This record gives sequence, C-alpha cells and structure tokens, in this order.
Amino acid sequence: MQRKIAVMAGDGIGPEVMAEATKVLAKVAVKFGHSFEFKLGLIGGAAIDAVGDALPAETLALGEASDAILFGSVGGPKWETLPRDQQPERRGLLGIRKHFKLFANLRPSVVYSELAAQSVLRADIVGQGFDVLIVRELTGGIYFGKPREIVVTHAGKRAVDTMVYTSAEIERIARVGFEAARKRSKKLTSVDKANVLDSSVLWREVVASLAADYPDVELNHLYVDNAAMQLVKNPRQFDVIVTENMFGDILSDLSSVLPGSLGMIPSASLGEGNFGLYEPAGGSAPDIAGLGIANPIAQILSVAMLLKYSFGLNAEAEAIEKAVHETIQAGLRTADIWTEETTKVKTAEMGKAILERI
Ligand code: IPM
Ligand code: MN
Repeated sequence: MQRKIAVMAGDGIGPEVMAEATKVLAKVAVKFGHSFEFKLGLIGGAAIDAVGDALPAETLALGEASDAILFGSVGGPKWETLPRDQQPERRGLLGIRKHFKLFANLRPSVVYSELAAQSVLRADIVGQGFDVLIVRELTGGIYFGKPREIVVTHAGKRAVDTMVYTSAEIERIARVGFEAARKRSKKLTSVDKANVLDSSVLWREVVASLAADYPDVELNHLYVDNAAMQLVKNPRQFDVIVTENMFGDILSDLSSVLPGSLGMIPSASLGEGNFGLYEPAGGSAPDIAGLGIANPIAQILSVAMLLKYSFGLNAEAEAIEKAVHETIQAGLRTADIWTEETTKVKTAEMGKAILERI
C-alpha cells in the first residue's frame, strides 16, 4: 500500500514523542511491505515562531495532499499572551479540526492489568482493568457557536459563548457511537445535561430516536455530572460513551487519567471519509519538554489508530498495540508510569523497545 502522511509534531514534547512514532511507522512499512511517505508540516507555536501563523496555508495544503495527519501537540506558556484567536490551540488545533470537518473524536481509555497499580483508582475498582471509548463531537457545540465575544458595557465587561447543535450534527456523531458500540460490547451511554440545557434536550431526543436502527446496542442516558461521578466510581460499567464537544473534553481527560497517565492515550479525529487526524490525548506538557523523558506510547498508539481507521490496516495496528503491551509486560516504564520494581527508561529507549518488538 502506498500512502502519504502529514507529520505535524508541534510544540512541547510533540517533536520528542513524534520522533519515536515515525520510526515505528517506518518499521511497519518495511515489515509489512508498504510505502509511507512522510512530509513535515508546521503547526502551533512552532509555526508562529517560524512563519508567524499557528496554522499556515502550506500546512493546510499539506494536509489536503495527504491521506492522514499524524499530529503531536500544540501550545505552551510562550504563546499564551498572544491575542486569543492567534494562539496555538485555537488557531492551530481547533482550526485544523474545523478545516477538515473532523467531527468525531475517538478517545479510548484502556487500563492494562500490569499498570493497574498505577491507576489513580483503588484496586477493587480497577479490577482486571477496563476499556472505555469516549466518542466526542468535535466541530460543534460551545467551542464554535456564535455569538461568542467579550464586550465592554456600561456595567463592566460581558462575555458570551453559545452552545448550539442541529439535529443533523447530533445524528452523525450518535451514529459513530452506535457503530463503535456495535463492534465492541454493544453498550452505548449518551451523556448530556438535558435537565438544564435545551441543546441537551435535543441531543437526547435525537440519540433516542436512532436506537431503533441499532436494536443490538443497549442505549442509556446519563447527565454529565453523574457520568463524571460514575466514571470514577465504577468505570467498568461503561463501554462506549457518546457526548457533545465540551462534555467530551472534560470526561475524556478524566477517563484518560484513570490508567495513571495521560501519556498512554491516543486519539483519532475523523470526518466523513477515511481521512483522519491522530494525536495523543495528553497535550504538549511544557514542564517536561526537551528532557527526553516523555512517554511516547500515546503517540505510538496514535499511529496504530491511523493505520486502522484511515488505511484499514488492522494487522499492522495490532502489531503495534501488541508491541506496546509486551514492552509494558517486560517492565519498561517512562517516568510517568514508573514504580519501584520496574525499569525506568527515557523516551528514546521506550520507543526503541517497542520498535524491536514489531
Ligand atoms: C483537547 C484539548 C483541546 C480541546 C484544547 C487544546 C483546545 O484540550 O484536545 O482535548 O479542548 O479540544
Ligand atoms: Mn482536552
């Protein structure tokens, strides 16, 4: 198979973990006889520093000419004082999601039994580990709704954000949730705030109306506050969670840290076709950037998601997932998941150990 991949490492730990991920991708290409062409694109703070724009036109053009985007992370203290609409997160990340209409964000949260002790949860709650998939709507809701402004009034400043959804937007993300549940344990939880918000009343109505198309999937609804509580109290009750943009943002950080580290969680952002953007759930972690100690697993598992969702290469994706799991089983740990009885390694060593197991 011949494919073009746009590589956008971005800021903070992005370039360090991306270096390991692209090596893994190259190894998979050799091993399975594919030809993957990588082209590097500037994004986020790095793009601001180089060309004065967090989302340069050349980067968008590169994405358009590619079959998928492998994304690192953007943002950091250096760019926090820029005008809001020029900042790496808003202009770079939200801009690229919107440009490519990547409305479905898949964030898996898997606790391996070997890492159960690192979970922030009690052992009896983690049990034999768990596997929750959050399907987050990514191009609508309060992140993009209009009006959105801060205005100066006689009585001081006034700020407004707008949470808005159409039934079509709800239906297309809900179907992603139902389809994902169908391929897993066939349980879908839709999360909303229908006791307060009209956008959630519509959300619940549309999701419920689709249930008849998926009789094999068990659907239930939870309010977002209760869902947050249940995720901590009993995460094993969940299979797939589908929710709107901001609720998904918050719940996915919560669920991604249940395994003990954000450094383990990949994500996929998908549109209508096979094109997708793949990024670690964690972020740029400026506090440890440049030290060579970041966990590359989230970025490497993002490669596995890319191969699976954009290229349909399931065996290749599984080879990566297996190599990651075996490396964990062998006792190798970056600082974020290290415990006394295991071996502490740096980013590059972890990447190499995974690569060797493919
Ligand atoms: C995420 C991040 C982004 C979001 C920020 C950086 C804009 O937190 O991918 O979850 O809120 O979507
Ligand atoms: Mn987030």
